[in-house]
Amino acid sequence: MYTIPSHLDKDSQEFKDNSRHYTAILARHREIMGEVMQGGPSHAIEKHRARGKLLARERIDLLIDPGTPFLELSTLAAYGQYGDSFPGAGIVTGLGVVHGREAVIIANDATVKGGTYVKETIRKHIRAQEIAMQNGLPCVYMVDSGGVFLPEQAEVFPDRDDFGRIFFNQARLSASGCPQIAIVMGSCTAGGAYIPAMSDETIIVKNQGTIFIGGPPLVKAATGEIVSPEELGGAEVHTTRSGVADHFAENDQHAISICRSIFETLQPGIKQELRLREAEEPRYDPDELTGVLQADPKKQTDPYEIIARLADGSRFHEFKARYATSLVTGFAHVMGYPLGIIANNGVLFAESSLKGAHFIQLCDFRRIPILFLQNITGFMVGKVYENAGLARDGSKLVHAVANASVPKITIITGGSYGAGNYAMAGRAFDPHFLFMWPGSRISVMGGQQAAMVLAQVKADQLEARGLKPDPKEMESMKAGILEKYETEGSPYYSSSRLWDDGIIEPVQTRQVVAMAVAISLNKVFKDPKSGVYRM
Ligand code: COA
Repeated sequence: MYTIPSHLDKDSQEFKDNSRHYTAILARHREIMGEVMQGGPSHAIEKHRARGKLLARERIDLLIDPGTPFLELSTLAAYGQYGDSFPGAGIVTGLGVVHGREAVIIANDATVKGGTYVKETIRKHIRAQEIAMQNGLPCVYMVDSGGVFLPEQAEVFPDRDDFGRIFFNQARLSASGCPQIAIVMGSCTAGGAYIPAMSDETIIVKNQGTIFIGGPPLVKAATGEIVSPEELGGAEVHTTRSGVADHFAENDQHAISICRSIFETLQPGIKQELRLREAEEPRYDPDELTGVLQADPKKQTDPYEIIARLADGSRFHEFKARYATSLVTGFAHVMGYPLGIIANNGVLFAESSLKGAHFIQLCDFRRIPILFLQNITGFMVGKVYENAGLARDGSKLVHAVANASVPKITIITGGSYGAGNYAMAGRAFDPHFLFMWPGSRISVMGGQQAAMVLAQVKADQLEARGLKPDPKEMESMKAGILEKYETEGSPYYSSSRLWDDGIIEPVQTRQVVAMAVAISLNKVFKDPKSGVYRM
């Protein structure tokens, strides 16, 4: 491996302009994260605390091993939707270490509309379960929820990946050896009752946790019976009479200590082996990434400068350095974990696709996870390329990405457009994790291009009918498309809809990638399906 030589000129105007631009993006990002992480409105937080309950993130802090990080996922789910009345979509999910064992943690935030579920809450919950399944992890559910947000029932109840999927996933996870543990710390109503009921082991907090299929108002309406929540399904009832819960806890803290004690009884699973090295800082400061990332989207960000600020010692063993240079491929370590890195350095050509596909096979056979650094406008278009079989060669890369036998981790560092998104392990290609940087963009194509395509289609339509386009109407149509793409291409729009696992700062990337790889080792990698062949 060699140390990547950085050509960054920190005195240049370009570096200063880029830095200023990205620093402003980061300042806004931190502001948004700060607002969202406060949870629900202050009156709801006060009410929650007055009941002697801990907040969702405080509960998680107590659950995980002291001094270990918590990798929070999709913090900005539902951001900018529902009048911003669902910060974090009312749920906190992520990965942490409990008694030495990596686990998925899912905690309702009862300060957000009683911890009820809108579409994004369900997507976030299900995504966390998918991660548990893909990586073979135990799940802890810290339940404090009023079930579905009733006005949104059509969006959350009936479809395959709606509320019911949570319980289906629990059954499947349990069957596949991923322990399911529920701590009932508040309400747990209707379908929600199945979260503790479907768990391998359940803890319930005295005078606080309740589990029932139909709450007191429903019981009264249905049968006329008048019953208090505690009598219907409180901790006393469920740990002495019904047997729906297994452990009686005095309060949140006690419940969490019981959960940690359950983890003590779990036996370690079989891990994937990986030859680790001592972690090392990059030779070039990751803080400089703000000046590396081009403020002008028309300028290509140099992927070597990014890799030099992510890789241990800025060291890289490049593969095919002289061939198909619009795709950079090679091996490096991040915080001691070996990775194959695939990074864009311009549009994808047929030969870049072949190079990428070849490199993925190397990673498959060497059992090395792959880090995709996405900054891609798409595949090269035009007669020469299409006639030479661009789609045929592109499909080889897409095949290799889809069938890679090792974990994939995708970071969208810049643009993520069109089929380039797919070929570089976008969400549809099931990367183990996908994060975006705050200055990135994602859409089927750029707004400018979409406006031009649609204007051309309109003009052709009119021409076919012997009419001429009205320039004013065309301009207003283009402006509308541009504005739509501007909004929908934002990483905040994406994260709000769970198209990614969260927005992370460039300087956080090393730690996040290292955690992602560490987590992926909880499941032995699949076997590759064919030998390494040249294309
Ligand atoms: N659907 C829609 N909104 C709900 C809701 C639900 N299932 N449950 C609670 N909310 C809303 C409340 O209207 C309130 O909204 P607001 O802040 O805009 O006024 C907010 O969530 C907090 O509810 P509140 O009752 O004030 O809080 P609480 O902490 O005292 O009680 C619950 C929380 C969840 C225990 C209680 O609201 C409840 O029992 N809800 C109904 C649960 C239910 O029957 N669900 C069945 C769904 S399948």
